[in-house]
Amino acid sequence: MNPILHNPLVPNSLKISSKSFSHSALGFLNALSSITLQDFDDDALDTLDARGSLVLVHSEVMKLTLIKWPPGKSSKIHGHPEGGCIFKVLDGVLTEARYDTSDQLRSQSVLFKNAVNYIDDQMGFHKVSNNTDGVAYSIHLYTYNK
Ligand SMILES: [Fe+2]
Repeated sequence: MNPILHNPLVPNSLKISSKSFSHSALGFLNALSSITLQDFDDDALDTLDARGSLVLVHSEVMKLTLIKWPPGKSSKIHGHPEGGCIFKVLDGVLTEARYDTSDQLRSQSVLFKNAVNYIDDQMGFHKVSNNTDGVAYSIHLYTYNK
């Protein structure tokens, strides 16, 4: 199983072999921490600009998505697959609101460029928003099994 190797748009530093694949998204902490927007080639960034999001990998074990956040864009309150979600702000500033699983607001943080956060359903749900006047970019990695 080589869950990441097949998509040429995935930067080399995220091309994890089947041997080192982690079933928890936290296993990608180091790899995701080192990723920048400049690691993606123009094809990936052009597609991201045109569509607003770009799924780089979606297999039975994981999903890797780039998201562009124009001013005012917001996700819904949502949970994640079993292995959790690790995400990084690649540019701009995002706000993450965290909720318990009955959608009660617990905390809110402002995440600046290069911030990396982890969440899973034991920790609660979250909503990500761009509350600034500038564009933001982020990358999100989910795994389906702990
Ligand atoms: Fe999320």
